[in-house]
Amino acid sequence: MEQKSTNVKWHNHSVGHEERVALMGHQPAVLWYTGLSGSGKSTIANAVDALLHEMGCHTYLLDGDNVRHGLNGDLGFSDKDRVENIRRIGEVAKLFIDAGLVVSTAFISPFQADRKMVREMCGEGQFIEVFVDTPLDVCESRDPKGLYKKARNGEIRNFTGIDSDYEAPLKPEVHLKTAEASIEECARQVVAYLVAQGLVKKAA
Ligand code: ADX
Repeated sequence: MEQKSTNVKWHNHSVGHEERVALMGHQPAVLWYTGLSGSGKSTIANAVDALLHEMGCHTYLLDGDNVRHGLNGDLGFSDKDRVENIRRIGEVAKLFIDAGLVVSTAFISPFQADRKMVREMCGEGQFIEVFVDTPLDVCESRDPKGLYKKARNGEIRNFTGIDSDYEAPLKPEVHLKTAEASIEECARQVVAYLVAQGLVKKAA
């Protein structure tokens, strides 16, 4: 993105990233959940967040629907707006990583190029792509917000999976198949990955 502001200078502060991380007792990272609407991103992210909190990790959860009420309230669901949605969330996630937290983001984030952009922004090893892999027919039968029904009736345009693309991750760090495993099992799978990578310590 082209920077429009001029005469601005990056400041280095006295308390830096290393100092903040040293106080945390775990490594910072972003758990980037991606999947269709109704796939279970927010539910699983919430369950993982609770487990991590119990383990003494400093966490934060950014949820698509909530962020679209505030920070990204000016954005819709055109391809262009979705790209900007993910770019902003990527920048926020990067700040949380800098703060030393394990931040979870639950956004459809349908385009591979945008997820790659955030991966590069956050740094390899700190960007953990979690593919919440739920078949469209399962999401549609769950239809928690009644949005698939509306999309099928033509009341909502550009709905992911109906008339807007979802590009599945090719090599996600964690692949969750929610039609075959419970929320608790999926949450444990994510935490097990973090422990195996040495990012967080196993609960005593
Ligand atoms: S993203 O594509 O830009 O990553 P995001 O995760 O922020 O999407 O928002 C998706 C949520 O917005 C869905 O879970 C759903 O509740 C709601 N929504 C409303 N309209 C649409 C639409 N056209 N396509 C997808 N989700 C929509």
